[in-house]
Amino acid sequence: MKILHLSDLHFHTNTKDNKKILKTLDKVKEKYSNHFIVVTGDIVDDGHEKQFKNAYNALKDLKGRLFIVPGNHDFGAAGNFYSRERAARFDEMLAKPLDQGGTFSFDNRPVVNVVTEGNDQVLFIGLDSNLETESPFDFACGEIGKLQRNALAELLSDSTTTYMKKILFFHHHPFIRNDPFMEMKDSAKLARTIYGRVDAVLFGHKHEMALFENTWGIPFISASDNSPGKDKGGELTIEEGKVSFQYVQI
Ligand SMILES: [Fe+2]
Repeated sequence: MKILHLSDLHFHTNTKDNKKILKTLDKVKEKYSNHFIVVTGDIVDDGHEKQFKNAYNALKDLKGRLFIVPGNHDFGAAGNFYSRERAARFDEMLAKPLDQGGTFSFDNRPVVNVVTEGNDQVLFIGLDSNLETESPFDFACGEIGKLQRNALAELLSDSTTTYMKKILFFHHHPFIRNDPFMEMKDSAKLARTIYGRVDAVLFGHKHEMALFENTWGIPFISASDNSPGKDKGGELTIEEGKVSFQYVQI
């Protein structure tokens, strides 16, 4: 099984501002027609209805092999001001019609999908890392929250998932420190929950590509930059119970 990681698509209202991301997605569809695609949030720029429509139209061909999570720009104007209306819109206009098997806004649990290919069973776990708060500082920071962390702990301890490979993905960067606009408030608690228990972690938010190997007891932790116009993406391969990571040309 091959998985391509994209992030921070930032679909705009005006179609002429989406040229780069549309071109990138066209290349992905052509070159990676059998890959699963994970998009780690900021799919739209500020949660406007037209932006979600544009994103849906561009992503609908990937339905069935696409996994998404929301970022701060999906749930809030300018990525700083949380809006219940925009959060609900993400679910109604993207998560549900793109058959994510769950929703992300408000008090959600992790969105979980099991995919089997050959002898490999892979658990895709999507989290909403947006902190649903009125404070613009807290909102851009993000948080996984107790409810999702507890549900995640339960899922990872469940004997039915023992032999599955586990790919965890969310939007916010868990290694940013001392930045009131960027850091994930409960990343240390998340680390304790997932330490040595998942095979790969994928996220975006910072628009900077980076790979952290064997960190938090996890083989591959990959940060994607913003994908529009970029010619490089992270690729996970799962084959006969082995997980590997490489960068590929888009
Ligand atoms: Fe972001």
